[in-house]
Amino acid sequence: MCAKFFWDWENRVATRVFITGICGFVGNMLAKLAAEHNLDWEISGIDNLARPGSDINRRDLMSRGINVVHGDLRNSSDLDCIGDIDWVIDAAAKPSVLAGVDGQTSSRQLVEHNLIGTLNVLELCKRSQAGLVLLSSSRVYSIHPLAKLSIEIRDGAYVPKLPFPKGMTEAGISESFSTTPPVSLYGSTKRASEQIALEYAATFGFPCLVNRCGILAGAGQFGRPDQGIIAFWIHSHQARRSLHYTGFDALGHQVRDCLHPRDLLALITRQMQSELHGMPLITNVSGGVESAVSLQQLTAWCDRRFGIHPVSSQHTNRPFDLPWVVLDNKLAKETWGWRPETEKEEIFAEIADYAEQNPDWLDISS
Ligand SMILES: NC(=O)c1ccc[n+]([C@@H]2O[C@H](COP(=O)([O-])OP(=O)(O)OC[C@H]3O[C@@H](n4cnc5c(N)ncnc54)[C@H](O)[C@@H]3O)[C@@H](O)[C@H]2O)c1
Repeated sequence: MCAKFFWDWENRVATRVFITGICGFVGNMLAKLAAEHNLDWEISGIDNLARPGSDINRRDLMSRGINVVHGDLRNSSDLDCIGDIDWVIDAAAKPSVLAGVDGQTSSRQLVEHNLIGTLNVLELCKRSQAGLVLLSSSRVYSIHPLAKLSIEIRDGAYVPKLPFPKGMTEAGISESFSTTPPVSLYGSTKRASEQIALEYAATFGFPCLVNRCGILAGAGQFGRPDQGIIAFWIHSHQARRSLHYTGFDALGHQVRDCLHPRDLLALITRQMQSELHGMPLITNVSGGVESAVSLQQLTAWCDRRFGIHPVSSQHTNRPFDLPWVVLDNKLAKETWGWRPETEKEEIFAEIADYAEQNPDWLDISS
């Protein structure tokens, strides 16, 4: 493996990190946190500023001296002028599970952004011999076995019951869980990106790591019900906007895990400093069962923080909705000696503080 992929602590030079989607929630947080923690990174990035609110992040990043190219990953030539880089963190995507079927992004556009975009990033990695950290998703896992889970309700949340499908335990969905379609169009663009990325890396000799992320959440997240649900819920509750539970029994028992991007950054820095030979290249990255929360439980947290705000029930089903999606993060913990440090209540509190300080955030970012 090429020496430049390791930090040489004696003669170290800054690692040149290029972040795609740098003005999105995750890309922006990674860039800012890396700068605030004085990581030895020389950061630059690209964004097409398509996500409402991303321009605010762009101005903030530029004011910190971080170079942001306004470009679109669908156009390979937008990457022609990127100079030498050591690592790419790919955080650009149409990240909603409803993308391609929601009438806002066409199916072709979704594939162009998420898969052709990856292809152009891979050509950049090949040209620069740069490593790649690909942010994938829990949505690569098969819908049918997850939709058919036997579940019970405990403390306002769905909990899966035995027998579990193959690749799952009470600790969550492991990397060996089926990825057979259907997984949603979004999930398929992620799964296909994983596959082509690992193939390019093996063929052209650059490192590549696939981090299958559960929900990432924190202050400044663009909140919509279909993407950024935790931020959307807390901001909406704080602003006294109408909220409703949809799907299943319409009582908000659906469960997701959550992780703060700070913990993702801690993992990525470990990964970049490691000898990757023989390491698993695909790992789940999540807060695990400790971070699992149902919407009803999140409402209870918000009620305690902001005062009671009623949530109505809407008996409609959204495509691809699942009762319990919690990723088992055991492999990431064992492989990288990493563990999430930020507890879910800290994530909620951070978002709540931000909501109080930025009462118009939902209008800006939705
Ligand atoms: N946030 C989560 O809960 C979560 C969970 C799992 C995986 N992920 C993955 O993490 C990554 C970041 O997600 P996020 O929550 O920050 O999303 P986001 O929408 O906040 O940010 C994505 C950014 O990418 C940009 N972008 C989109 N298409 C582009 C293109 N063709 N060219 C250039 N820029 C483009 C957008 O303008 C936006 O600024 C995505 O790959 C997403 O699939 C996110």
